[in-house]
Order: sequence, then structure tokens, then C-alpha cells
Amino acid sequence: MAHRVTLTPSGQTFVVADGQTLLEGARGAGIPMAWGCGVGACRTCAVRVTAGRISMPPGTALDDELLRAHLILPCVAVPRSDVALELAPRGGWVAPLPWTD
Ligand code: FES
Repeated sequence: MAHRVTLTPSGQTFVVADGQTLLEGARGAGIPMAWGCGVGACRTCAVRVTAGRISMPPGTALDDELLRAHLILPCVAVPRSDVALELAPRGGWVAPLPWTD
């Protein structure tokens, strides 16, 4: 089932097809979203969920404290309902981690 994503503060919306990650949905809609590794390792794509449900695999670069702050990694997160995401302020929600391919 597809889910609608609303970004704040821009108010942009896009639809994520069943099985797509949030990043894949944004890119497919032509909405720029910061990213780096694409596998949940660098935290470059971190955003905050303000409404809705997502699922994310274990073992990403987010620790328990960041998860409790509702940060997620759109490169590996899949929506389970319509969701609202707060994009990172300048400088990001969290410092990116170095990564290599
Ligand atoms: S792009 Fe690296 S964690 Fe999402």
C-alpha cells in the first residue's frame, strides 16, 4: 500500500510505493533529500518523524538516544502509514559518520 509523506517545514508531499524506502520515494518524486551511503551507515539523511509509523532495520548508525528522539534514516526506512517528516535544520539533526563504499 502506498503512503503519503509530508515534509516540514516545506509542506512538500510525495507518495512512497509499497516496499520503497522514504529516500527512494523522495528521489522518485524529484524532491531533493540529503543522503550519502544509502545503507543506514552515515546518518547524512537523518530526519525526524513527527507523525505516522515507519519501520527500519536494526543495526543502523542511530543509537538508542537518537531513536528515542524520533530520528530515522530515510535511506532504509519504509513507511507503514502516512507520515510527516521534519527535515534537518542547517547543520543536520546529528553529525554524519564517515563511511566508505
Ligand atoms: S544515506 Fe547514509 S544513513 Fe542514510
